[in-house]
Amino acid sequence: MRITVIGCGYLGAVHAACMAQLGHEVLGIDVDQAKIDALAAGQAPFYEPGLPELLAEASATGRLRFSTDMADAADYDAHFIAVGTPQKKGENAADLRFVDAAVTELARHLKPGAVVIGKSTVPVGTARRLAELVKAAQPSAELAWNPEFLREGFAVEDTLRPDRLVYGLPTGDGGIKAKQTLDEVYTVALGNGTPLVATDYETAELVKVSANAFLATKISFINAIAEVCEATGADVTQLADAIGFDTRIGRRFLNAGLGFGGGCLPKDIRAFMARAGELGADQALTFLREVDAINLRRRSRAVDLTREILDGSLAGKRVAVLGLAFKPDSDDIRDSPALDVAGQLQMQGAEVIATDPKAIPNARRQYPELTFMESTPAAIAGADAVVLLTEWKEYRALDPAATGELVRGKAILDGRNVLDPAAWRAAGWRYRALGRP
Ligand code: UDX
Repeated sequence: MRITVIGCGYLGAVHAACMAQLGHEVLGIDVDQAKIDALAAGQAPFYEPGLPELLAEASATGRLRFSTDMADAADYDAHFIAVGTPQKKGENAADLRFVDAAVTELARHLKPGAVVIGKSTVPVGTARRLAELVKAAQPSAELAWNPEFLREGFAVEDTLRPDRLVYGLPTGDGGIKAKQTLDEVYTVALGNGTPLVATDYETAELVKVSANAFLATKISFINAIAEVCEATGADVTQLADAIGFDTRIGRRFLNAGLGFGGGCLPKDIRAFMARAGELGADQALTFLREVDAINLRRRSRAVDLTREILDGSLAGKRVAVLGLAFKPDSDDIRDSPALDVAGQLQMQGAEVIATDPKAIPNARRQYPELTFMESTPAAIAGADAVVLLTEWKEYRALDPAATGELVRGKAILDGRNVLDPAAWRAAGWRYRALGRP
């Protein structure tokens, strides 16, 4: 198929490359010239495992091209909207400026029979409103909403082999036509038996935000239990293992620690609450306020614990921060708990030396006052305390004895519960973690 992907960020760039890999002819469009130049040169503008290889392969086939000009979309059949829906400044609601601008501009160039497919995470009701906009510009065009569930760090895998497909479709013949187009786009995944839920716009929009709200709730649930563990001397990691054996509960997304961040979960639960309020259903989602609060409390707890392992004062202490990205295998620092904690430590008087395998350039832009070191040993050298905030593989594999040779004080905070407390304590470290004795 001939398809465009409008918005080439974490979601769109991966989607464009994967669609080309699957055999479609793809045009990626973005307003950011630098991003488009990088992608056109086969370079990924952010870190995502597997994406550089995929871009190289797809570009070599000639099936993947990029442009900053929406007019170039005119002779394509299907158009994916993959622009961002960030949180509005000073409000919980989602900022739909980019989605609205993309669809409005695209609508001017749609050819008869084209299908616009929304992928961005939007408040329920958006698709129906945008469908009217599309119809007004091109009556024979259709709009579908096809939410995306990819995880950063696994984005290529999740796009090529999604665990489900959801289509939000208009009623009548328009819906049949839009579904045919989507089925053709996803021939490979459907052929592999990927489950498909074909439904209306509102359900499709709500599937996405509900999934993220559930995941956020699961993480905050275990982090709330971690607070109780801290008050009693219990161990939340063993507790999570034990409850996770119940298949109704499941062990995944029960890792207690610094909590969730990133460009999706935090802003999506806030936008969901805001939208429910507009719909008069705010009571239904007040629990998400608590989910958010538990999550943010973990960050201050990490700062307090760092102060504790430094004998009650951060002032003038050198703290090595391991990890800045919101999760491993990503350079994304949007709402990153790690970066937030690093900033708070510095603000409260510590001298922060921070490192991360991929996120330093992004982190430096946001917190230029922190000191950054590329190498882990250099960041750790002479530290009074080491705090592990993003569980990159190389930090999980740190050797307590060798690390002990580098530091000034053997104090460590395991903000992600990934180290072996016994091994660190045996090597003479003062070890603290969230939700563990
Ligand atoms: C999430 C959803 O998983 C994905 O389906 C959706 O499309 C976008 O949002 P992503 O933001 O890439 O994906 O990250 P995810 O792997 O879900 O992790 C989110 C945050 O939760 C990270 O900060 C992670 O460190 C944290 N987390 C995750 C925990 O604290 N504990 C866990 O057990 C799991």
